[in-house]
Amino acid sequence: MPAESYIICQDLFKIYKVADLEVVALRGLDLAVDRGEVVAIVGASGSGKSTLLNILAGYDTPSAGKVSVGDRDLLRMGGREVESYRRHEVGFVWQQTSRNLFPYLSALENVALPMMLTNTSPQEREERAENLLDLVGLADRAEHTPERLSGGEQQRVAIAVALANNPPLLLADEPTGELDDATASEVLDLFGTVNQELDTTIVIVTHDPEIAYKVGRVVMIRDGKTSTEIRRKREYTRRITGSVDTETPLEEYTLVDGAGRVQLPREFLEELKIHDRASVRIEDGKVTIVSAEE
Ligand SMILES: Nc1ncnc2c1ncn2[C@@H]1O[C@H](COP(=O)(O)OP(=O)(O)OP(=O)(O)O)[C@@H](O)[C@H]1O
Ligand SMILES: [Mg+2]
Repeated sequence: MPAESYIICQDLFKIYKVADLEVVALRGLDLAVDRGEVVAIVGASGSGKSTLLNILAGYDTPSAGKVSVGDRDLLRMGGREVESYRRHEVGFVWQQTSRNLFPYLSALENVALPMMLTNTSPQEREERAENLLDLVGLADRAEHTPERLSGGEQQRVAIAVALANNPPLLLADEPTGELDDATASEVLDLFGTVNQELDTTIVIVTHDPEIAYKVGRVVMIRDGKTSTEIRRKREYTRRITGSVDTETPLEEYTLVDGAGRVQLPREFLEELKIHDRASVRIEDGKVTIVSAEE
């Protein structure tokens, strides 16, 4: 794992205790993201996607492992540092449009609000809020309250709110989950604009089945661990658009964790009749895994 990565998760665990039961939401997750990269996180419901995002956002603390963003160690941050981290380093967009905005404030006021927590002068707040609304294409809706905006427009404002304090990292948990396909693709395009214009690193959780054709890098989480990754062969790091590009070839990789563990697809195990043990050898510079029963 390159030491200079912007986000580093190593052997990350999150265990929730519910009454006497323990739920392991993350079990030894590894992930490295470079500055300015766009990464989509996919995985079945309950696989740990939101848990990971909440940890990266500083909303939740992991149970064990390592996680750092820039030069901040998220496991060691004190209360004040967490506050400052949330205000300056990250922006967050939720799936529920209603959760992102205050209903009684206009779009402009919503965008200006987070800047009140960072000692930004009133004049600068207004100017920046106007610029951000312009960036998300809603300069002409500045005075509208959320109920007078469409779902897609609300998510655009939410992105502007998340960017209010110019954070280097933008996290989005299924930001297009409640939108129709056409609107969803416009919002994905907007993430691309943000990445290109502001150099913002973006980690986005999505259930979009076509996401591999829209972003440069897709990481799949299975049972609380990263399992496989799909990258495009060219220009893979900085790309997110709403339109599908099936021209550029994709490469799928199995991820190898820090301890050398590899997860094999279930179909392979079934086909090779591998149950609880296999024989692993090096042959002609390749690793081969065969059923122990052979
Ligand atoms: N606050 C919590 N308390 C207890 N268990 C939790 C809590 N949050 C999440 N979990 C459990 O942790 C696991 C991972 O949940 P998480 O919300 O990260 O999944 P997800 O991949 O985001 O799923 P979805 O696609 O449905 O949003 C699940 O088994 C979930 O029930
Ligand atoms: Mg979730």
